[in-house]
Amino acid sequence: MNFIETQKPEPPEDIDFEAIRGAKLQAVMRAMPKAELHMHIEGSLEPELMFELAQRNRVSLPYPSVEAVREAYAFDDLQSFLDLYYAGASALVTEDDFFALGQAYCERALADGVVHSEVFVDLQTHTMRGVDIGVVFRGLERAVHWAAQQGLQLKLIVCFLRHLSEEEAFKTLEACLPWREHFIGFGLDSSERGHPPEKFSRVFASCRELGVMVVAHAGEEGPAAYVSTALDDLQVARVDHGVRSIDDAALMQRLASERVPLTVCPLSNLKLCVVDQLSDHPLKHMLDAGLAVMINSDDPAYFGGYLLENYLQTQAALQLGARDIWQLAANAFSASYISQEQREAHMTQLNDCFRKAAQ
Ligand code: HPA
Ligand code: ZN
Repeated sequence: MNFIETQKPEPPEDIDFEAIRGAKLQAVMRAMPKAELHMHIEGSLEPELMFELAQRNRVSLPYPSVEAVREAYAFDDLQSFLDLYYAGASALVTEDDFFALGQAYCERALADGVVHSEVFVDLQTHTMRGVDIGVVFRGLERAVHWAAQQGLQLKLIVCFLRHLSEEEAFKTLEACLPWREHFIGFGLDSSERGHPPEKFSRVFASCRELGVMVVAHAGEEGPAAYVSTALDDLQVARVDHGVRSIDDAALMQRLASERVPLTVCPLSNLKLCVVDQLSDHPLKHMLDAGLAVMINSDDPAYFGGYLLENYLQTQAALQLGARDIWQLAANAFSASYISQEQREAHMTQLNDCFRKAAQ
């Protein structure tokens, strides 16, 4: 049975974290097994593949070249990113395109030591353009199968686009029912401000009745109150981002005592101007307050780094110690929707990795 663990993971007493510093800590970050819980598959579309697919499918992109796309990756806020992100996703048309997209992410994730990844897919972005839901699921399923053979477990979470209506979300939920075995849950993403979680209370109640996991983006650009309503009205198992929770002391206490997982994305927050500099990021503060935070890459092709790069840059910017890195990695396995046996196997490998580095 798969579930999310709400007990705070504690490290084995025999690991000497003080002995792991500098280059040793960097080596541990590279080598340790990792879980990723917040990554949009469309956000892993690198410009080269975007252009290749657009040419093959005769889709026109609003940029003349790969270089021009990369140059446009200077965002002011979430919406300025989403405009480009949805334009890029229009290059994806066939089952082979979705397989290529999924496989390319998996190759990067494997190189980064990811062993388990729960990946968002923005189905409506594709169905609205006339792409069949089966094209998306079948293509990604082939990537899931390929990844499993390489030692990476990939699971899909279907996100509702919150700038669209409740009715559109219900239609998407209905369309997903025949594909039930292809995904583990539902999420909520896209433009946050003005689209509070409670807009989708009834949709999420229907999702929960199916017995699937539900998560939601909240408190990225939107206020801390959206984190509260994601918990109260949508009854989410995890909050995606959630960094604005730092504005509400009572909410911070609640998140700590209930051990609500927050899938924090440092490089995303930097690129979308949620923080001015990585050294201003509240991750360390949240970790020290006992919150179940971990590191994720969000939209790695757009934000300058996959999971390992997020770990390396965040560790350097916030001066995180080996004990912090262990906690972040362990929190990710706790918050993964996996069986207890899988969790224990990953934790054993994680602990071995730190133990060896400390010797
Ligand atoms: N926030 C909201 N919607 C998104 C994001 C994000 O960071 N990435 C892709 N869709
Ligand atoms: Zn996201």
